[in-house]
Amino acid sequence: MNSNPNTFPLRPLLVGIAAIALTTLVFDRARAGGGNFYPPVSDPVVVEECGGCHMAFPAALLPARSWQAMMADLGNHFGEDASLDADTNARITRYLTDNAGDRGGQRYAGKLFRGLSASQAPLRITELPKWVKEHRELTPREWAAPEVKTKANCVACHRDAERGFFEDD
Ligand code: HEC
Ligand code: HEC
Repeated sequence: MNSNPNTFPLRPLLVGIAAIALTTLVFDRARAGGGNFYPPVSDPVVVEECGGCHMAFPAALLPARSWQAMMADLGNHFGEDASLDADTNARITRYLTDNAGDRGGQRYAGKLFRGLSASQAPLRITELPKWVKEHRELTPREWAAPEVKTKANCVACHRDAERGFFEDD
């Protein structure tokens, strides 16, 4: 067996290199195509409460004012009652606004809010002018496909959406 003591530091070094390579890969992918990585929700309470009926949408996909408006009217959430107790609501509102696309998540949102005036607080990502523009080539038939059903079903077309990647695939 190789008993040369000089080979001992090799293993940690290799592990270090592998870790760097993986990180670079993830960031390269995130940047590929320009701004289509939106960090997945990292707060387990938000995942739990906002990921049951649909994917827990990344906070950077909407501006803070939209999250505020949505969280203030959860009893009337797209035809569903999604209301929460006051503490949970406050915690989720804080997470979503802190990481919103015009706050902490700004560097990820890129041009996503282009065409949106400061007075508009859309409740749907799928109504952002930039989102509509990015999806303009999809046909009514594609939207109506049984595996898609609704525009909000990002995962149907963006297979890596749960991991934050929304590329054309
Ligand atoms: C009881 C089920 C339910 C829960 C819980 C729920 N939602 Fe929703 N949500 C819906 C439905 C239904 C829609 C409309 C989906 C559609 O148009 O297909 C929706 C739509 C949305 C949209 C708009 C998607 C689009 O079209 O761009 C956002 C953003 C959203 N929800 C965020 C949240 C957040 C944040 C929470 C947690 C506080 C949450 N939801 C919890 C049912 C729920
Ligand atoms: C029916 C399939 C479909 C659904 C559902 C869908 N998308 Fe897309 N999305 C696409 C396609 C296809 C493109 C690429 C358009 C192009 O490159 O011309 C795209 C592009 C994008 C882009 C721009 C990516 C880039 O390369 O710059 C983003 C961001 C995005 N989608 C987010 C979302 C989000 C968020 C949802 C859910 C709220 C969603 N999409 C739902 C098909 C879909």
